[in-house]
Amino acid sequence: MSTVTQSPTETKAQRAERLKREKNPWEALEEVRTFAPQGFDAIPEAWLKTYFRWWGIYTQGDGAGALGGSGGEGRTAPYFMLRIRLENGFVTSRQLRAIAALAERYGRGVADITVRQNFQLHWLTTEDLPAVMETLAHHGLTSQATCGDVTRNITGCPLAGINAHELLDASPLTFETAQMLVGNPEFYNLPRKYKISISGCPDWCSYPEINDVAFTPAVRGGEKGFSLRVGGGLSTEPHLAVRLDAFVPWGQVLPVVKAVTGLFREADCLRENRERARLKYLFLRNGWTAESFLREVERRLGSRLAPAGEERIPADAFRDHTGVLPQKQPGLSYVGAAVLRGRITPEQMRVAADLSERHGTGDLRTTNTQNLVVINVARAAAGLVAGGLEAAGLHVEASAFWRGAVACTGSEFCKLAITETKSYTRWLVEELEERLPAFDQQLRINVTGCPNSCGQHRLADIGLEGKKVKVNGRMADAYYFCLGGAVGEGAGFARPVGYRCPADQTPEAIERLLREYLERRLPGENLRRFFARHSETELRVFLAGREQEAVLRDPSPGRPSHELEA
Ligand code: HEM
Ligand code: SF4
Repeated sequence: MSTVTQSPTETKAQRAERLKREKNPWEALEEVRTFAPQGFDAIPEAWLKTYFRWWGIYTQGDGAGALGGSGGEGRTAPYFMLRIRLENGFVTSRQLRAIAALAERYGRGVADITVRQNFQLHWLTTEDLPAVMETLAHHGLTSQATCGDVTRNITGCPLAGINAHELLDASPLTFETAQMLVGNPEFYNLPRKYKISISGCPDWCSYPEINDVAFTPAVRGGEKGFSLRVGGGLSTEPHLAVRLDAFVPWGQVLPVVKAVTGLFREADCLRENRERARLKYLFLRNGWTAESFLREVERRLGSRLAPAGEERIPADAFRDHTGVLPQKQPGLSYVGAAVLRGRITPEQMRVAADLSERHGTGDLRTTNTQNLVVINVARAAAGLVAGGLEAAGLHVEASAFWRGAVACTGSEFCKLAITETKSYTRWLVEELEERLPAFDQQLRINVTGCPNSCGQHRLADIGLEGKKVKVNGRMADAYYFCLGGAVGEGAGFARPVGYRCPADQTPEAIERLLREYLERRLPGENLRRFFARHSETELRVFLAGREQEAVLRDPSPGRPSHELEA
C-alpha cells in the first residue's frame, strides 16, 4: 500500500504526483469496502487525503473552518462529504428520492445543490460508504470524479432539449464526454481538476467563461456547431476562458475534448506547483496563446478545424431558471424553484419528485445557481406544481434576493473556510427582503467563505468573500466586497472595491449600496453597468455611507495560508 509519508525534500506537488503514479483509485474501489468496517482511524492517509477524492469522498471539517486548525487547514471530523454527479444537471424523480433517502439515513437530513449542478451530502461515516456507493450505483448515480485531479461534473444548460431558443440540444454530448473521460484509465491522472461545460443555448447560463473547456453554440456556413473556449477558471487567480479560432461541428466535439485533455495531461509544466496546475496557467504563466493552443489541438487531432463560426454573445441576462415558463414542446411548461443557497431537505426533494411524477415525466434538472427545475409539466398542471413546490418552501416566485443568492459550503463542513456561509446567506437574504421589500432588479449575490471562490463570487453583481476581523478583541466573520461581475457580453470579474465589514454589518452596507443604485441609476441601467461607471472610491462611499480608505483584500487578520485543496 502506498504511503503518504513525505520526505523532507518532497514538495506538495511531488507528493501528489507520486501518489497518483502509484495508484489509479478508480481501479481500487474495493479498498474503500475494506476500510469501512475498520473505522475512520484505520484509513491510510493516502486514501483519506488523496485517493478518496477520485470517488467524490472528501473529509469534512469540524465546523470551525480553517481557523480551528493549523497551517491553513481546519481539523478533520470523522465524517465525509460526498458529491453526487449529475451530468448537465439531469436527475429523475426516482434518483431524487434515492438522494433524499441517503441524506435522511446517513446525512443528518442535509443536502446541497452545488454550482456544478451536483448534490453534496455530509456527515457520512466510513462505515456508511459502501452502502451509500451501492445505493448510488443501483439508481444509476455515481460520485466518481466529483473531486480530485479529474474531469468534474460536465455542466450544461438545465433547459437542454426543452428551450425554444436553443440552437442545439447539447445534452447528449455532456453524457458522451463524461463516458469517454470518467473511469477511463487514460484520464485518471490529470495535473489538477478539470472542468468542462457544453451548451447549445445562446444564453450561456453554464458560465463557459470559467470552465477549462467550454462549448457554446455557433453557426458556420449554415451548419450548427460550437465555439471553443479553453483555460477559464475562478479560484484565487481568475481567468476568462480564451476563445480559439475554431468551429467545432457536433461530430468533432469528443475528438476535440480528447485532444485538449491529452494536451492538459501531458503539460508537465503544470505538475510542478499545485497552486498553478489548472489549464489556465498555460496562458497565465507558460506563454501559451490561443494560436499555439489551437495548433497543438489540431496536431493531436491530425486535422485542421474550420475557422470560428458566428456566435451571439448574450447580454448579461439573469438566468436562474425559476418561475413557470413554456417549453418548446407544445402544451408543456417547466417550473423552476429557487432553492435558497442550494440547501434542500429530503422532504422537499420528495415533494419535487412526487410533483414531477404526477404532472410531468419524472424528469428534473439542477442548475448552477443551486436551483431545481421540474420539466415536462402539462401546461394546465403548472399551477399545481408551482403551488406544491411553494408549499414545501421551494419558491417559484421569490424576491430578487432569494432568487439571486448562491453560497459555497463554508465553515460548517469545509476545512478551508474562514467564514460560515449557508446560515449567514439565509439571514442576509431575510434582512435584505425586510430592508428593501420593493427592490425590483434581478441581482446575483454570491457568498464564498474564502478566496477559493467555490461560491463564484467573482461572477456576481455583489460578491462577498469571507474574512476574519477583530471585533472587541475577538475574531468575527467578515466579508470583503467585490462588485460588478459579469458573464456574456462584457464578461469580467467582480472588482475588489476595498471595502470590508463584519458579517453582521453587511445588510446595512448592501442596503446603502442598492439605495444609491435605485436613486442614481440611469433609465434602464442594470447593476453591472451602474457599478462599471463608478470608481472604487465611489462604490466604497456607497457601501460605507461615508468616505473610507481602501482595505487590502488579503491577507485579512487571521487568514491562514491555504494548503488544502479540492
Ligand atoms: C484549493 C482548494 C479549492 C479551490 C481552489 C476551489 C475552487 C472552486 C471553484 C473555483 C469552484 C467553482 C466551480 C465552477 O463553477 O467551475 C468550486 C466549486 C465547489 N467547491 Fe471548491 N475549491 C476548493 C476547495 C473546496 C473545498 C475544501 C470544499 C469543501 C466543501 C469545496 C466545495 C466546493 C463545492 C461544493 C463546489 C461546487 C462544485 C461541484 O459540485 O463540483 N471546495 N471550487
Ligand atoms: S470557497 Fe473556501 S470556504 Fe467556500 S467551499 Fe470553497 S474552499 Fe470552502
